[in-house]
Amino acid sequence: MTAVTLKESEFKIFQKLIYDEAGIDISDKKLLLVQSRLVKKLLDYKLSSYSEYLRLVQINPKEKIEMINLISTNETYFFREIEHFSFLQNLLKNEHANTPLFRIWSAAASVGAEAYSAAMILDSILGSDKWEIVGSDINTDVLKKARVGLYPESWISKIPDAFKKKYCLKGKGAHEGKFLVDRSLVNNIRFHTVNLLEPVMTFGRFDLIFLRNVLIYFDDKTKQKVVDNMILNLKPGGYFFISHTENLNMIDLGSLEQVETAIYRKKR
Ligand SMILES: C[S@@+](CC[C@H](N)C(=O)[O-])C[C@H]1O[C@@H](n2cnc3c(N)ncnc32)[C@H](O)[C@@H]1O
Repeated sequence: MTAVTLKESEFKIFQKLIYDEAGIDISDKKLLLVQSRLVKKLLDYKLSSYSEYLRLVQINPKEKIEMINLISTNETYFFREIEHFSFLQNLLKNEHANTPLFRIWSAAASVGAEAYSAAMILDSILGSDKWEIVGSDINTDVLKKARVGLYPESWISKIPDAFKKKYCLKGKGAHEGKFLVDRSLVNNIRFHTVNLLEPVMTFGRFDLIFLRNVLIYFDDKTKQKVVDNMILNLKPGGYFFISHTENLNMIDLGSLEQVETAIYRKKR
């Protein structure tokens, strides 16, 4: 089969669909990126054009989910942006030593490295039954991996030594070359499919929300909508982390106030 090219007119339709569904704002220059992410589907289904795949996506909700799974960028790693984890450590020691249940939402969780990094800190400071974490993502494939908590051994290098010893189990046999996050942490985290464009009513309120390295894919209108939705899930006095490479400059912060670079707090 000769390589099928994605036509400009087809790209425009995918671009709009992805924006409407996930808020992901794909630049006009990213035609080749979209083509390379979706080519697998043309091969799998033996299709001869992207228009045929587009039709499948439009009539089949399951296919639409798989298309978004292929398009979303899921790069993550343990203890990414370490300043946030140092902040969390100090916050727990200084303000939450007696909090009965400290709740975190990792709201664009990808394969779970962010949630498990936070879990290691929570568990080591608060003990096993005084915290819970909810992880969520629009991508159903990454969530399957997050629920298992099995990672390539190369990912372990970013984890502090004390946590490696306590929470990471070296894989053997079929899991050679991988490590498994300790089940005590895995069992304390629930991962759910959530589209950040829609408000979440069922999670309850959180002491801290991680919303990192996802705002970068949204335009200002979508950023505003997502942040407004999420503030509803933050307790008064709760913290809101975005990435150090992102900003909320162009949006109305509402009840949030900035306390440090990439750290906001909901007014009491
Ligand atoms: C680059 S990863 C960030 C992972 C992690 N927060 C970190 O900082 O390492 C971005 C994640 O956002 C998710 N995402 C993109 N659009 C989304 C949406 N509308 N709703 C929920 N998650 C979304 C992607 O599927 C992806 O897993």
